[in-house]
This record gives sequence, C-alpha cells and structure tokens, in this order.
Amino acid sequence: MPAIVLIGGQWGDEGKGRIVDLLSEKAHIVTRYSAGNNAGHTVINERGTFRLRLVPAGICYPGKICIIGNGMAVNPKALIEEIEDLESRGVSTTHLFISDRCQVVMPYHPIIDRLDEKLRGENAVGTTGYGIGPAFADKVARIGIRMGDLIDPRVFEDRLRYVLNYKNNVLTRLYGAEALDFDQVYAEYCEYGMRLAPHVRDTSVIVHEALAGDETVLLEGAQGSLLDLDAGTYEFVSASVPSSLAAGACIGIGIGPTQIDRVYGVYKAYMTRVGNGPMPTELFDNDGERIREMGQEYGTATGRPRRCGWFDSLASRYTARVNGLTAAIFTRMDVLDTFEEIKICTSYRIDGKEILEFPASVGQLNRAQPVFESMPGWNTPTTGVRNWEDLPEAARNYVKRVEELMGVPIALVSVGPERDQFISLDSIL
Ligand code: GDP
Ligand code: IMO
Ligand code: MG
Repeated sequence: MPAIVLIGGQWGDEGKGRIVDLLSEKAHIVTRYSAGNNAGHTVINERGTFRLRLVPAGICYPGKICIIGNGMAVNPKALIEEIEDLESRGVSTTHLFISDRCQVVMPYHPIIDRLDEKLRGENAVGTTGYGIGPAFADKVARIGIRMGDLIDPRVFEDRLRYVLNYKNNVLTRLYGAEALDFDQVYAEYCEYGMRLAPHVRDTSVIVHEALAGDETVLLEGAQGSLLDLDAGTYEFVSASVPSSLAAGACIGIGIGPTQIDRVYGVYKAYMTRVGNGPMPTELFDNDGERIREMGQEYGTATGRPRRCGWFDSLASRYTARVNGLTAAIFTRMDVLDTFEEIKICTSYRIDGKEILEFPASVGQLNRAQPVFESMPGWNTPTTGVRNWEDLPEAARNYVKRVEELMGVPIALVSVGPERDQFISLDSIL
C-alpha cells in the first residue's frame, strides 16, 4: 500500500506540479490535501501548459483518480472554472472527486483577506488575496461551510443564514465594509453546489480502498515548508489547517501516519519567495536579477516577481528534518547553467555569532547575514542531459555538496520543465 507524500521544501513554487505529473504515471490516485487556490502548480505535457490551482497535478493522465481532500479550502467558482478549462482542452474530469468535508471559500473570505492586509499595514503578509487564510480561520473558529453543506440546499440555507449574519457583522463593524446580500450569495452558491455535486464523495473511502488493494496513492503538498503555519517564518506564512508539511497529508486526506511509506521534498537549486517575510540569502544584485530572468521567476498564481537568492542549506536541512524526508528532488538546475560562480549558504552570522540551525525568530532571520561557500559554475547547457554521468563535473559537485549539507539523498535532478527533462539518481517509484 504505497502512499507517497511530496512536499515543497522552500517557500513554494519548487516545481511540485511538474514532479507530481512525473510520478502520476505510476500512481492510482493523486490527491491534494491542504491549502486552496493560493497554490499554482504547473504541468507541461503534450497538450500544453496547465497551471493547476485546486485540481491535483495527475489530472492529465486519462482515468487517473484525482482527489481534492478534506484538508483543502475550495473556492467553488475557481474550481468550476478550472474544471471547464481542463475539459475545453480535452482533459476529462470525470475521475475528479471532492471531499464532502473540505471547506468552502465564500465571497467574504477574499474581501476579508484584502481588508486584513490593509489593516496590517507595514506588517502585511503579502498574501495572494484569494481568501485562503480567512477560510481556514473560519474552519478553526467553527463557522466554516463545508462542501457537504453546499450541495444540500436546505442545509446550506440554514448554515449560510447563520454564518453570513455573523460575517456581515464582522465586515460592517470591524472593517467598515459593506454587508453581503443573503439571497444573492445563496442563489449563486447553490448553483455552484449543483454543478460540483456529482464530484462530491467521502473521498477517504476511495483512498482506503486503493491502499487496501496495494495501489499507489500520491499526496501532493502545496506551498513550501517555510510558509507553513508551524514550521515556517511565522507570521509571514500561509495559513492552512492541516499543514502542508508531510504530516498534514494524513489529516488532509483521512489516513493514518502508519500508512505513509515515503516522503519526497522538492527543492529548487536556489531560493525564491513571493510575498513578504525574511529571506536571508535574497540577492539584490545582478545575480538575483539573472536568476529571475533565466528562471522566469514570476508567480504562477499571481504573476508577482519572485524574490531570488542562493541556495540556503540551513533552511533546506531544517525542512528536510521537519518533514522526515526519505529523499529530495532538485529542480531548476538548468537555470544556473550560465553562472561562472554559484554560492551556497552554509551558516548565518547573527549578532556576531555563527548559526548553523535555521532560527525560529523573524527578527533573527532579518538580521542574519548569510555565509557563503563558493563553487565553480558549469557554464554548459544541462537541459538536454538525461544521465548523471553526462552532467558536467561542476554540476555533479554542486548536487553532491547540497546533498551533503542537507543530509538527505537527492533522488532526481530536474533540468527543465518538460516531462522528460530529468536525471534519475535513484528510483522514486
Ligand atoms: P509548484 O508550485 O511547486 O508546482 O511550482 P510552480 O509551477 O508554481 O513553479 C515552478 C515553475 O518552474 C513552473 O513554471 C515549471 O514549469 C518550472 N519548472 C519546473 N521544473 C523545472 C526545471 O527543472 N527547470 C526549469 N527551467 N523550469 C522548471
Ligand atoms: P505553491 O503550492 C508560493 C505565499 C504568498 C504569501 C503567503 C501567504 O504554488 O507552491 P496566502 O494567500 O497563502 O495567505 O499568502 O504565502 N504563498 C505561496 N507562495 N507558492 C505557493 O503555493 C504559495 N501559497 C501561498 O505569496 O507570501
Ligand atoms: Mg506554485
């Protein structure tokens, strides 16, 4: 019963979608288990480029069961648009199932997300503005609406009457914003419910049956561990309950920790971050600009330019630890193809002291001065390389040094966004 979790080890956008797509070929079920459409997972295949927000990245394989797990917050309008886009491009969604226990992102959530950011002023998180944090806050406050409620008009009517009254109080009294109209919201969301109802199931049953039948289940994480509510650079984090860490996969899909066999962490060959918060190795010079341009580092979900920096081995070793990784996957090696010199951060200097473990405090991280080790670049294109032996020696040395610093084996190196652009060092399925 192989259940494999795949998580992002940095600040998101590590290439999870591309790796899930690769692994999906051999999986029976592919599931998302956390977050919402703040995620953007890119898959490139023979049909073109897909930027998936809520639908698992296995969807392009015909007949593959894809599940939106109970741990997600689903914007029904965004999901319907995503389904329609996939269908219009010839990708069937008949095997897409949505948990009846997942949270629904309601129209007041994005409104509150933006108003909240304004209230925070200088301390704004730099959220995507899609209302995901507020939707999970409502889940915890026990005023969320679940998918099972949405698809039952009578239950939904009762629930919405109570919840919308509560939220309108918050909107008008706390934020001085306008109240939302019950009839309008009810009519619009009933329609979404009817459209999505054929996909809604108790999805944990499907997963259990697959695992009992020795089928492979792939659990696709969102975001990156440094954006996690517990492990991340709090308060500059995303808010998902359950967490997008590997441990959250059990809760977000409805299985137990004993059922997870392997955990893979996806890491870029350098660091990026979208939004605010500390990033010790961020580059403000020409190298940072070059990484952004070579890597086209602009957000998949929001189009914002990503902040770029050298690989941070403290942060990466830390996320390997808190996820209990069995192996790491190294992406975007090719983006560094033209650099003469490549740097790796091996420690921080904070208040005159050398620090080797990633600190919890945002204040310390903001004061951290990265100490770099320099390695020669390889100055050769790697996008066409498919075997480890054919990688330039300097590139192999770079991978091996990162592996050593992280303390986790690197099982796969990705040298381009297309399905076949990877080098396998170890079997990952
Ligand atoms: P995710 O959120 O982790 O799924 O990552 P995103 O899809 O948001 O961002 C990753 C971007 O990198 C996408 O545009 C991918 O097509 C691209 N990508 C993935 N792996 C590689 C790689 O090895 N090399 C290059 N050049 N691009 C890659
Ligand atoms: P994937 O799955 C990169 C960031 C936002 C912001 C912070 C909080 O594609 O890797 P939120 O809207 O979630 O409350 O914003 O988290 N963020 C991501 N950054 N990739 C993501 O997902 C992200 N999801 C959230 O930019 O800094
Ligand atoms: Mg992304």
